[in-house]
Amino acid sequence: MFYEATAPANIALIKYMGKKDEHLNKADNASISYTLAHLKSRVRLEADPLLRQDVWSALVANALYPLPLSELGQARFLKHLIRMKERFAYTGFFRVQSANSFPHAAGLASSASSFAALTLAANEALSQLTGLPPLSNSELADLSRQASGSSCRSFYAPWALWDETGVHGYALPYTQLTHQVFLISSEEKAVSSSEAHRRVLTSPYYEGRGFRVAERLEHLLRALKQQQWATAYQLCFDEFQDMHQLFETAKDPFSYRVDATFKILDYLQAFWKQEGDGPLVTMDAGPNIHVLYRLDQNALQKRIQDKIEQEGWAYVA
Ligand code: PMV
Repeated sequence: MFYEATAPANIALIKYMGKKDEHLNKADNASISYTLAHLKSRVRLEADPLLRQDVWSALVANALYPLPLSELGQARFLKHLIRMKERFAYTGFFRVQSANSFPHAAGLASSASSFAALTLAANEALSQLTGLPPLSNSELADLSRQASGSSCRSFYAPWALWDETGVHGYALPYTQLTHQVFLISSEEKAVSSSEAHRRVLTSPYYEGRGFRVAERLEHLLRALKQQQWATAYQLCFDEFQDMHQLFETAKDPFSYRVDATFKILDYLQAFWKQEGDGPLVTMDAGPNIHVLYRLDQNALQKRIQDKIEQEGWAYVA
């Protein structure tokens, strides 16, 4: 008997960076994300009475890309399954398989979607196997957060707000946006996001981060509600620059931005200046650039994509 679930990735416009509690993944600041419904992870669980421990393997199926999970990645994934089993007081073991609907090389973090999908599949399996009632969406988001902070936002769509009260869906007029990533590198990051969360605390700019980010979030929510797209663009731009400055000014500094990152960012800024319109732009803890377009921006999207491909700055995914 298989139990399967899928869950989407998400992209934050106000970033979760810095933790209050490293073990429970309690964020130092509130964040908001747009859920990427086209980028999903799928997890399949099979209870096997012959097993003496949980085992992971890549899920091979049509239209799915098997993800290569390191030993450490597998251990972290299975540790979350143990957390879920403890919640249901279940003592059996599972075969765990997972894969993404997008290639690993797409440079997209799949930890949010993978952990959310594992949480959902485990809820399904464990509630059926134990006869206990399934957990609510908010309980699931809370458990998933303990494995990967940003995964808690994947339980709500199209927008998720994660603040000190928990994670919630958030109603905004832009219910459907087109996401693209300008893929500069898909290599494993030299500094993981967990390490980034730790190191930013040592930047001299971290002290004012709480205030800056709270104010920016408030302004962004207002701009999005009032459909002030250009204001939203500026706030999103300031936000990821703020985060990357924390990386670059940490005591043991590090940077994800490379030549092509700066070229594309300069081009997007010039485009906005000239046209008075463009996509929302953001970056995660990596060199790649994420953009979100409104549905009426198809022509503009094509122009930007053509330019980036012609210049050979990045692969557009
Ligand atoms: O969920 P984590 O620990 O991988 O942290 C994610 C951090 C960022 O992607 C950089 C920002 C965010 O809010 O998603």
